[in-house]
Amino acid sequence: MPIHYDNNTQIFHLQAGQSSYAMQVSNEGYLCHLYYGKRISQDDLSYLNETGRGASFAPNPADGSPTLDTRLQEFPGAGVGDFRVPAVGVRAANGAYAVELKVVSHAILTGEKPALPGLPAFYLNDANEADTLEITMEDALLGLRVKLYYTAFAGENVITRWAVAENHGTAPLSIENLQSACVDFPRMDLDMVSLHGAWNRERHVERHPLFHGSTVIASRRGSSSHQLNPFAVLCDKHATEHSGSAYGVQLVYSGNFKIEAEVNQMHCTRVTVGINPENFAWRLQPGESFTTPEAVLSYSDEGFGGLSRALHRVTRNNLVRGEWKHKLRPIKINSWEAAYFNFDADKLVAFAREAAKTDVDLLVMDDGWFGLRNDDTTSLGDWFVNEEKLGCSLKELAERVNAEGLDFGIWFEPEMISPDSELYRKHPDWALHIPERGRSLGRRQCVINMALPEVQDYLFDSMSAVLKQANITYLKWDFNRNLTEVFCNSLPANQQGEVGHRFYLGLYDLCERLVQAFPHILFESCSGGGGRFDLGMLYYMPQTWTSDNTDPVDRLKIQWGTSMAYPIMTMGAHVAAPYHGRAGKIGYRAAVATTGAFGYELDPTKLTDEQIAEMRECNAEFRRHQQLVSTGDFYRLVSPYDNDGHYTAWQFVSPDKSETLIQCFTVFNLHNVWDLRVYPQGLDADAQYELDCGAVLHGDTIMHAGLRLQHFGGDFSHRLLFLKKKPPAAEADASQ
Ligand code: GLA
Repeated sequence: MPIHYDNNTQIFHLQAGQSSYAMQVSNEGYLCHLYYGKRISQDDLSYLNETGRGASFAPNPADGSPTLDTRLQEFPGAGVGDFRVPAVGVRAANGAYAVELKVVSHAILTGEKPALPGLPAFYLNDANEADTLEITMEDALLGLRVKLYYTAFAGENVITRWAVAENHGTAPLSIENLQSACVDFPRMDLDMVSLHGAWNRERHVERHPLFHGSTVIASRRGSSSHQLNPFAVLCDKHATEHSGSAYGVQLVYSGNFKIEAEVNQMHCTRVTVGINPENFAWRLQPGESFTTPEAVLSYSDEGFGGLSRALHRVTRNNLVRGEWKHKLRPIKINSWEAAYFNFDADKLVAFAREAAKTDVDLLVMDDGWFGLRNDDTTSLGDWFVNEEKLGCSLKELAERVNAEGLDFGIWFEPEMISPDSELYRKHPDWALHIPERGRSLGRRQCVINMALPEVQDYLFDSMSAVLKQANITYLKWDFNRNLTEVFCNSLPANQQGEVGHRFYLGLYDLCERLVQAFPHILFESCSGGGGRFDLGMLYYMPQTWTSDNTDPVDRLKIQWGTSMAYPIMTMGAHVAAPYHGRAGKIGYRAAVATTGAFGYELDPTKLTDEQIAEMRECNAEFRRHQQLVSTGDFYRLVSPYDNDGHYTAWQFVSPDKSETLIQCFTVFNLHNVWDLRVYPQGLDADAQYELDCGAVLHGDTIMHAGLRLQHFGGDFSHRLLFLKKKPPAAEADASQ
């Protein structure tokens, strides 16, 4: 099993898949980090335990033990001589800010993974998948215990971590910082890769070297954000897509987060990941506990590609839940770009009728069906159907759409409230606000205070009432602005630092109640496109709208970047009408969008017969490969960030390596272009594979000599190559 403990050396050695993670309890009781990287033998690693190299101006702890400022530690405190970024910061009742944790006990939970109360988290399907190590640390003076949890997966290079603070004292404590994980690397020759962006330009890849001081990837927007995603990679200087060591750091959380990499005077790097401590403080009364979100640490010696594949597998198998976990997702058509707010039931049924000709599965009625919502100025919070606008009941509308052969889906934006709404007029205090301070508007709306139980109940009841009215099989959950005036009337002054996190506990509670009450519904989260694409939301909703930008060329970069951290089938990807973004053939746009949870964003009543036929063919092509795209290993082959973005290629390989799909895309034609080749990966080297054209090549030839993309070029062209392994008998025949 993956977790080992040596009583003599007091070394914990976690072997997660092909990775090792080791730490040691020092004589003084500190939990010191020893090693993280490629799997190694269970040797005595005590020699790696650094004890205070001559750090300038760093005092020793009161017991005279070596300075903490240069020791590699697992969960460093603050205020007692380690001047680097801390994993925990606590203010005592007397106002003192100091915390120093020492190990008091540990337990190995074989085949178990405790739940994180109220929070999204990875889970085990069976006891052989992972073990969990629980290490209890204590600051006796504060009466504070912190339990560190490490779940090591047996078959994947993945360790998840979280921490639980418990107040065993007699006075309240203010937890001003509690990170989910901290890793001290004895080196600084590392690059960081992170995903930055903006609305319509989400998750672009950025790489930069670490330097003395801190690199911080964080959000203080009240959401995981368009701007920086709660994911980062630290990697060797020479690491590439396919080779070199890479360490992934990720958080299962949708609110304010921070990933910080700090290089100190001794050229060591400390990485912390957790809730952003800015404007965070949790008041912990005696007898109470606080649980952090879960962090995910991953390791690959096959570059970023190996890291992504492990994250994709573990996210698909151990995070995504519910009926839709293994089901192939429907091809949908969404009303937003086709109609915006301007629709009634007849128009939607006409969409369904025309869309049925193209063989899509589901029609989504987007924003505009509730309250008096005819533009974005009103009605958020008034979750009752505007039958006058529709011209019929929701039940009847869904029945009419079903009669055309399509399933029916609906849009909500539950966390928002329009000042011009019945709900706001009745409960102005439900909007997040600070008394006497003006209320900032974003898209002319306020954020509803999800921390209030009465708000959670109102949303559950009003949404359930709508969902029960009709045959609804899909729900798009939107979130179209960031949080401001984060304050809660029902909490005292010294608990206002809790509101940002309480908002998410309230949201997660509501999501849990709804997904349990409506297990057949496929939920997709959204935030002005991809402004909240994170593992927290994916725990409740198995797919996320990746970006409002459906331009296929822009999408190459967005989807490439998103795939660094998230499985392909979690990415909503649609073909939009050419007037939204660059012109381009439906086939090309569809080829990009089929690398995801596929659908359309256009008015089907405006399609020509030729376009309908083209869409039918795209849908058939998607279904042909949907299983492979949904469950296969993903290889990024040619980056849209290289070659001036001239061409991009990626590949799926089925888990048994019997099939592979390679997708290549150009942007603009290059004159006098070089011989374009792709070098597929992940195949069975000795097996023979048959190409679409009938040619047969061995896996090693395909991977090392590559495939030539002859006659491939022109503006916006794509090429799909599908290769199937020849069965052994046929292989024998072929060699005779
Ligand atoms: C956001 C979403 C869009 C659409 C609109 C509706 O912008 O990203 O897809 O649902 O809201 O208002």
